[in-house]
Amino acid sequence: MKKSNNTILYIATVLIFTITSLIILFNIKEDYFQDALENGFLFNKINILDYQMGKGKYDSINIEDGFKVYKENNIVKIDKNEETLSIDSTLLNDEEKTRVIKNVIYSIKDDKDTYNDLGNNQEFLDEIHNFDEFFDSFDFDYESIIIKHTKDQNIIYKLPYNESSKFMSFMFENIESDPILIKLEERYIDPNKPIIALTFDDGPNIYTKDIVNTLKQFNSVATFFVVGKNVEGKEDIINNILEEGNEIGGHSWDHTLMLKLDYEELYKQLYWVKDVIKASSKEEYEIKLFRPPYGAIDDNVRINSSYPLILWNIDTYDWKSHDIDSIIEEAILTVKDGDIILLHDIHEETRDAVEQLVPILIDKGFQLVTVSQLYDLKGIELKAGEVYYNIK
Ligand code: NI
Repeated sequence: MKKSNNTILYIATVLIFTITSLIILFNIKEDYFQDALENGFLFNKINILDYQMGKGKYDSINIEDGFKVYKENNIVKIDKNEETLSIDSTLLNDEEKTRVIKNVIYSIKDDKDTYNDLGNNQEFLDEIHNFDEFFDSFDFDYESIIIKHTKDQNIIYKLPYNESSKFMSFMFENIESDPILIKLEERYIDPNKPIIALTFDDGPNIYTKDIVNTLKQFNSVATFFVVGKNVEGKEDIINNILEEGNEIGGHSWDHTLMLKLDYEELYKQLYWVKDVIKASSKEEYEIKLFRPPYGAIDDNVRINSSYPLILWNIDTYDWKSHDIDSIIEEAILTVKDGDIILLHDIHEETRDAVEQLVPILIDKGFQLVTVSQLYDLKGIELKAGEVYYNIK
């Protein structure tokens, strides 16, 4: 991939409270590791890493200062200096296991239906007391160790880190310190796995930054086809799109239907957007793609365009339905490798739908890239004046 998204991950300030309370609880000495914890660096990183590793994007993550988090045989492991901690049942001592069992039984008793099924079932009670066999799946998020019974996915217990003495001592003891810089490995796209491009038209808009954030959260990028006259006063949005590794394409100057235009008007619609993006972006960004409004193209557009003309093969009809579930459904109904999906970053419902859609697509095994990256990865050269819908 030509363009790498080596965004340094972003501090989850919401974690400060949790971490601060842990620090008070354990009276930890001040050091750089503590700073990383306080700032939520570490747990936020691990959370995202765990998610991404599950999707095969990363093999491991290196945290400077001797820390490394990785997954081996489905078990999350943390290396610190020469030691290794496994996130599995060995993480808990007998007393902690007993507490987990009690809490799971309590929570089941709270739920009458499940209680009737399970809670007063002697077989279940016998099984759960055999902790190591009963809980055979362990996960990890930014606030807890997630303990699961693989046979019944509803039986989940979230154990806060501070309730595992082994976890706490491993993380906090004997740390000598240099600043911890946590770096996400370069985004890696496997060209042999499904790749698609989400595209957002008609912005920039007040919802654009939220969409950029959602994409970023899932280590994904997209292409934004912007309307030139909407750019003034929204330069920060343009720069935010670009800084997070996304692509910007042109979508005319003022969303005019570009059929049968005279040369002067056609030139304005095709190229003014390029000029305004160049002028508004810190890096003097050059637009390389164009999507005519309504996907309307005539010979004049084809002949005069110095850009490839990018249409789509999946319309989510977000402009019509304004319905979150329907947007998601349209997007995933027939989606396959090489597809280009049409969305609009000017609708609140689209912004909300994207929050669910991105993880759904990733769960289905799709890698989300920009349109240029999609063609690049598939080894197809985009040509000026030619029309593209998707890669078949
Ligand atoms: Ni449009």
